[in-house]
Amino acid sequence: MAKSRVQFICQACGNVTSRWAGKCEACGEWNTLVEEGTAGGIGSGPASMRSTRKGRAVVLTSLSGEIEDAPRIASGISELDRATGGGFVRGSALLVGGDPGIGKSTLLTQAAAALASKGHRIVYVSGEEAVAQIRLRAQRLGVANSSVELAAETNVEDILATIADGKRPDLVILDSIQTLWTDAAESAPGTVTQVRAAAQTLIRYAKSTGAAIVLVGHVTKEGQIAGPRVVEHMVDAVLYFEGEGGHHYRILRTVKNRFGPTDEIGVFEMSDKGLREVSNPSELFLGERHAKAPGAAVFAGIEGTRPVLVEIQALVAPTSLGTPRRAVVGWDGARLAMVLAVLEAHCGVRFGTHDVYLNVAGGYRISEPAADLAVAAALVSSLTGLALPADCVYFGEISLSGAIRPVAHAQQRLKEAEKLGFGQAVLPRGSEEPGIGAAAFQPATLTDLVIRIAGSLRRDTDD
Ligand code: TYD
Ligand code: MG
Repeated sequence: MAKSRVQFICQACGNVTSRWAGKCEACGEWNTLVEEGTAGGIGSGPASMRSTRKGRAVVLTSLSGEIEDAPRIASGISELDRATGGGFVRGSALLVGGDPGIGKSTLLTQAAAALASKGHRIVYVSGEEAVAQIRLRAQRLGVANSSVELAAETNVEDILATIADGKRPDLVILDSIQTLWTDAAESAPGTVTQVRAAAQTLIRYAKSTGAAIVLVGHVTKEGQIAGPRVVEHMVDAVLYFEGEGGHHYRILRTVKNRFGPTDEIGVFEMSDKGLREVSNPSELFLGERHAKAPGAAVFAGIEGTRPVLVEIQALVAPTSLGTPRRAVVGWDGARLAMVLAVLEAHCGVRFGTHDVYLNVAGGYRISEPAADLAVAAALVSSLTGLALPADCVYFGEISLSGAIRPVAHAQQRLKEAEKLGFGQAVLPRGSEEPGIGAAAFQPATLTDLVIRIAGSLRRDTDD
């Protein structure tokens, strides 16, 4: 056997070096280099794999040909199926990442039970919890009678030997990848080498048998799947399960999908009987609205294929500090700085002596630039103390020149707004005809919007 060489692997990014250092030179993280043995493991490099074995010829085949079974197995939990792009794909590996305690095991237990009730063979392997704990959860979820096959095991070879018995499983859930270890690698469970080797073995199993596998991975506080970030490129799809502390709803976000769309979300609510699907997320994020408060604007957004209405809240308050504060929750801080700069430079609205706080209601996260206009409206509303009309939605991108640029899916956004009882909209001038009727206001520049908000004071006192 080749002499085992020592190497150091960054637990954050997977970079391999031959010498220890305090800081990883690849990703810049501190104290993430860990010594791992390489004998026989994945990542051991060609030196240890040198052998006298000749390659075996495999049969080459064509693109067209028989596909046995339906390629996907849908769980019937529509928010989950939406995120996976229509169900679990046979022969594929899916990684479900999320903070500890967010509800990954709960979601997968529910999915497993739903699939088992349709006659699929589902195996749930937990490396974290004892069988009794999983049973307790199943009782709580009301699925204790389902035919899901359960095991508490962490060794990959043992797991594969176990499921090789009987009919090929349709879905194997492994909770979690950090607890698994394989004989092929010598490092401790949870290290990059182990996680990579275990995932590799399981993915090979999935591809060769056609069973779908789901790997659960915990995310570190930096938001990366701990160590298993190195797994992301190996699997076919990556879903993140997110939620904000103190809020009950959870979002299942598609980050990568070889068989479906990305940027799709599934929305759930955590209740005492498990996760409940939320098929109309807008109602959730608008739930806590107070009509006549200044500083709130409703943004008509799009998540994947689905419109989502969400309230943006701004608080602009005189500062006591030399450098005013800008704090953002749920949006991009750099984008807020840009909107503030445009308001100052082109619209004469001054924030220099004010702290600015921006919050997206319900702990939701927005990544669309189309939220610019709603943010600007909320900021101006809070600064002037003038409440915006309660039945109005906003969307549009602001360019640095102060012009308002069109965004995609205007019709869909307006339709959702109309459905939820909004009668007015502020949107960019663009090719698409607004369907919301006479109440649409289409400013060419941000100044037009600021004038309109400021003008509402006079209109209010005229009444
Ligand atoms: P869990 O699925 O164990 O999280 P993860 O596998 O991501 O670590 O969920 C744990 C949390 O969910 C825990 O705080 C309790 C809560 N929970 C409920 O509120 N209702 C339920 O029905 C269940 C099963 C869990
Ligand atoms: Mg768990």
